[in-house]
Amino acid sequence: MAKIPIVDLNAQYQNIRDELRRAIDGVLESQRFILGVEVERFEKEAAAFLGCRDAIGVASGSDALLLALMALGIGPRDGVLVPTFTFFATASAVAHLGATPVFVDIEPESYLISNERVEAVVKERCLIDGEGLVEKKNGVRIRAILPVHLFGEVCAMSELVPLAAKYRLRVVEDVAQAFGARVGLTGGAKAAGAIGDLGCFSFFPTKNLGGIGDGGLIVTDQAELAERLRMLRVHGESAKYTHQLIGLNSRLDAIQAAVLSVKLRHLDRWCTERVERARRYHELFVATGLIGKEVVRLPAAVNGTSHVFNYYVIRVRRRDELRTFLAEQGVQTEVYYPLPLHLQPCFAYLGYRKGDLPNSERAAAEVLALPLYPELTAEQQQTVVQQIAEFYRK
Ligand SMILES: Cc1ncc(COP(=O)(O)O)c(C=O)c1O
Repeated sequence: MAKIPIVDLNAQYQNIRDELRRAIDGVLESQRFILGVEVERFEKEAAAFLGCRDAIGVASGSDALLLALMALGIGPRDGVLVPTFTFFATASAVAHLGATPVFVDIEPESYLISNERVEAVVKERCLIDGEGLVEKKNGVRIRAILPVHLFGEVCAMSELVPLAAKYRLRVVEDVAQAFGARVGLTGGAKAAGAIGDLGCFSFFPTKNLGGIGDGGLIVTDQAELAERLRMLRVHGESAKYTHQLIGLNSRLDAIQAAVLSVKLRHLDRWCTERVERARRYHELFVATGLIGKEVVRLPAAVNGTSHVFNYYVIRVRRRDELRTFLAEQGVQTEVYYPLPLHLQPCFAYLGYRKGDLPNSERAAAEVLALPLYPELTAEQQQTVVQQIAEFYRK
């Protein structure tokens, strides 16, 4: 194992071991594993935490995205605006429904989409008519936008939501990496995921709120969407063996829900600890004098709650060489994500070319995620930064 792993789930487990074991034992004693009281309780707690009317537990973050788009009735002849610099599931959910992902570039500083980047797509690739947007290339009606709060940082929703309204787009937030992030909006602070029509979360074990297996959640304030989602996750059943819709089998397990209820109680503290560690990295890096030279960029937002640092991602020169050097020193790193989605082989049919979305392509060649988790120590962080400085001294 790496001396400094990119994430250390065991450290967290040891701190809450007894609480978790009690919760899992409770489920085992009940022998009720599918939906039931634990899932209902966690859904209520998550809805209260996020400030939403409804929360619907599903089998994964990928399914959350798929089900959210199904609930909106997205299908063939529809397009969905999706960042190209994100995890694959954001776009595959669109393609699974026969709809077309319409890829949007990111801002180089934040790795997030913005109004400017969306307007660039509108100008270059869309027609505007009385109902909104049509992508010129294949004539699909663009029906939704899928902002991804990448690495734990919330997109500029106070600008994106009015833009979506202007073009009559539904807003589905991909909050897989940002459970616990909050932003100030007119009318008060809101949780990431509670701003658009629907918010989709993942409980993959390495997320800020992680389960002990796969899990996901969809939140909404719209009762009608919630009702559809509750049907869609059980094969579209409205009453036993009556199928109102063609849905999926996609439910959150009782064991996952019981574990997540325990972890949710710790989440605010863990988010604060992540932000503190991000701030420490920032100070350590500034002291090296590498910023703006070999280390091209640090994450910008280290203040407040709008970035909960699921990942701490920097941009560097000679990234792959640095990564190999760090691995030799026992420092584990990752690249999220080395190939933007518009250049993935499976999306070749969409006809994008290298150079089409340059900010994302450049980011893919330069980003490096460093170890970050609530239990990471100051000494470990010093070692990481010292080793990076050492590499560039050579
Ligand atoms: C941005 C993003 N979207 C979607 C997903 C999919 O979530 P899951 O792995 O739970 O299916 C993930 C996580 O893996 C993600 O990081």
